[in-house]
Amino acid sequence: MTGRNLHGISDSGHAGNQEAVPGTKRVRLADAGDVKAMAAISAQEYDRWSAADFEQSMRHPFARIWVCEETLGSSREILGYAVLYFDEDGSELMHIAVDRGRRRERIATRMIERVFAFIHNQQIPQVMLEVRAENDAAGEFYRKAGFRVNHIVRDYYRNPTDDAVKMLRRFK
Ligand SMILES: CC(C)(COP(=O)(O)OP(=O)(O)OC[C@H]1O[C@@H](n2cnc3c(N)ncnc32)[C@H](O)[C@@H]1OP(=O)(O)O)[C@@H](O)C(=O)NCCC(=O)NCCS
Repeated sequence: MTGRNLHGISDSGHAGNQEAVPGTKRVRLADAGDVKAMAAISAQEYDRWSAADFEQSMRHPFARIWVCEETLGSSREILGYAVLYFDEDGSELMHIAVDRGRRRERIATRMIERVFAFIHNQQIPQVMLEVRAENDAAGEFYRKAGFRVNHIVRDYYRNPTDDAVKMLRRFK
C-alpha cells in the first residue's frame, strides 16, 4: 500500500514500517502479494471480503491494511489482517480477522497494537467499529482492546440477521 499520510509523511510499504515481534511473527503493511491469503482468511467468516475488496482498500489513500506474517524457514504464511480507514476527525476499523486455526495466540492483539500506534502517530482522535451482536469473541476482544459500546443498530446485518454494536475507542 502506498500513500501519503495525514501529516505528509510517506507511509509507503515495507521498509521502515515493519514492527518486529517476538518469535517468527511480525506485523507489517500488506502488499499486493498478500491479497489472496487475506481473502482466504476472510472467506472463513460471514461478512467476507473478496480479493477485489482488499485490492480496492490497498489503493485507497486513506486506508491501511496490516498483516501478521509468520516465517518458518523459507516459507511465509499470513495469519491475519486488519483494515483501517481514517481521516483527520476519526477512523474506522473496517475488519480484523485471524486464521481460524491460529486464534487465541494474541495475533489480533499484535495487529491492533500496530493499528493503535498508527492512529496515535497520526493524532487521530478516535476509532470506531461495528460488530455483530452475536460475535462474542470479537466483542470480548474489542472490550479488552479498550473499545466501549457507543450504540446499537437493530437488524443491521443480513445473512444471518443480527444487530450491529457500534464501539468506540478515544485517543484524546
Ligand atoms: C476476534 C478475533 C480477530 C480475535 O483474534 P485472536 O488473535 O484470536 O485474539 P487474541 O488472541 O489477540 O485475543 C486477545 C483477547 O481477546 C479476547 N478473546 C479473543 N477471542 C476470544 C474468544 N473466542 N472468546 C472470548 N474472548 C476472546 C480474550 O480476552 C483474549 O485474551 P486471552 O486470550 O488472554 O484471554 C478472531 O476471533 C477472529 O478472527 N474472528 C473472526 C473475524 C471477526 O469476527 N472479526 C471481528 C469483526 S470484523
